[in-house]
Amino acid sequence: MPKKLLVTGAAGFIGANFVHYWLKQYSNDNIIALDALTYAGNMSNLDHVRDNKNLKFVHGNICDDELVEKLMREHDIDTIVHFAAESHVDRSITGPDAFLETNIIGTHALLKVAKKIWLDEGLKPEHRFHHVSTDEVYGSLNTDDPAFNESTAYAPNSPYSASKAASDHLVRAYHHTYGLKVTTSNCSNNYGPFHFPEKLIPLVITNILFNKALPIYGDGQQIRDWLYVEDHARGIDLVIQKGRLGECYNIGGINEWANIDIVNLVCKLMDEAFSNNTDLAHRFPEAKAAINNNCASLITYVKDRPGHDRRYAIDPTKAENELGYKPSESFETGIRKTLQWYLDNQEWWSKVMDGSYQDWIENQYN
Ligand code: NAD
Ligand code: DAU
Repeated sequence: MPKKLLVTGAAGFIGANFVHYWLKQYSNDNIIALDALTYAGNMSNLDHVRDNKNLKFVHGNICDDELVEKLMREHDIDTIVHFAAESHVDRSITGPDAFLETNIIGTHALLKVAKKIWLDEGLKPEHRFHHVSTDEVYGSLNTDDPAFNESTAYAPNSPYSASKAASDHLVRAYHHTYGLKVTTSNCSNNYGPFHFPEKLIPLVITNILFNKALPIYGDGQQIRDWLYVEDHARGIDLVIQKGRLGECYNIGGINEWANIDIVNLVCKLMDEAFSNNTDLAHRFPEAKAAINNNCASLITYVKDRPGHDRRYAIDPTKAENELGYKPSESFETGIRKTLQWYLDNQEWWSKVMDGSYQDWIENQYN
């Protein structure tokens, strides 16, 4: 039976990759892609699928419950996959309000409408509300601590992770109290195409191409567990198809890297790319360090992020055992594919990095 999905945050990094994945995988399903097009959302992320007759894009805010209700009724939605969020930790430190508004109030608006239509009016006994969350809700690990599993106590440390934790609790409460059919996935750091260049990996790639400093917060020894974005989409698919209602599933890459090591790796791969392809020096004449095979010379240690979490790591045993989940992209291939994607898609990142974004990021370090 084909599904009718409402995908929120569909013009963002993971939402857009998920839409690409889902339309390829399930060609009879229909998707309503709802996105407020904040600085992080870009219609160009959906360019490849814009002519797909099973996809309709709607520019709107998840906090607008009248709009959400209208869309759910008009399109007979049976599945919500909820990505929309303010997602950048640094922005949550300088301006938390938007995070509370979208991540908490917005999630609650969706839950209320879903409950009203699916449960109170009994219009869709078979429905699903899938909530996309993060491993950051579990807080920070020390070097020798075991990885986060689904029983790890919540201990969010930033306004971003606190707002995501609040939204996870609301989703859980709507299941426990009202019987809404929900699932939640808590994923580690994603990387891949369409990653907005304020996040570490695309920031480093694009800064090299502009010959700008590569800012390393604090000592650079913080650890993240990196997952190729399409593997996240596959994980969410498995949770939607096979996950138990009311349950949370941790999705990760079993791929822990210290930030400084990731940055050094990207520098090495960029040096190699410029050595192997002389055309790159013509296309990116500003990229002096890359042209001279010395990208690492751009590395600059800067003030640490306040409250910076030291280490995240995901224990994916539950998703492996219950859903048969395993990442399919190796880091070796995924990071090379990602670098190549940024080299091939200069138009995309030039377009998304407009003046306001550049001003914001530059003010951060001064
Ligand atoms: P992103 O910032 O790239 O995209 C977020 C999208 O949501 C944007 O298109 C934005 O326009 C849209 N949006 C923001 N506020 C909205 C609102 N009020 N109404 C409608 N749309 C709105 O984020 P992302 O990295 O793609 O993350 C997507 C989801 O996955 C988030 O919920 C995030 O917490 C979660 N997550 C992200 C990662 C990661 O590594 N990026 C890892 C785990 C979980
Ligand atoms: O773990 C999942 C989370 O991963 C998601 O929930 C968030 O939405 C997503 O933004 C990401 O959060 P991080 O804070 O881990 O990602 P970010 O790319 O901002 O930073 C990765 C690490 O690199 C982190 O330890 C901070 C550091 N960093 C980041 C930037 C932007 C630097 O050292 N320098 C930088 O310039």
